[in-house]
Amino acid sequence: MIGRLNHVALVVPDLNAAAALYKETLGAEVSDACAMPDHGVTTVFVELPNTKIELLHPLGDDSPVAGFLAKNPAGGMHHVCYEVEDITAARDRLRASGARVLGGAEPRIGAHGKPVLFLHPKDFCGTLIELEQV
Ligand code: CO
Repeated sequence: MIGRLNHVALVVPDLNAAAALYKETLGAEVSDACAMPDHGVTTVFVELPNTKIELLHPLGDDSPVAGFLAKNPAGGMHHVCYEVEDITAARDRLRASGARVLGGAEPRIGAHGKPVLFLHPKDFCGTLIELEQV
C-alpha cells in the first residue's frame, strides 16, 4: 500500500543553523525558509536525489511541533512521510486493522498542498507516520 518515501521531517531549534548545516557542511540543495502559519511551522526543504528532508521549526503559539522541541531541545526526527495513491482507501484499511489515525481521521491538506493523514506512533514502532496522497 505505501509507496515511496516522500520525506523525513526533523524538528530543529535553529532553522537557519540547520539549513546552513545541510547546505554548507553536507553540501545539499536547500530551499529558502517558508512560513506556514496554517500548519504552525516554518519549513526548509532539503532536496536529495531520492527524497526530501523537511526541517521544521515552531511558528506561532500552538505549533504542533513546540512540545517535541521542548522534549528534545537539540531537535530530532519528528516523522516519516510515505506516499499512497488513495488516502481514503489507506485510512479505511488502517482503521480496519486497528491503527489509530490522528486528528479526526479526515485527510487534510498538508504542507505540500496534498491530502495527508498522521498515524499514531505507538502503533508504528514508535514513529509518527504521515501518509501523503500523490
Ligand atoms: Co511531513
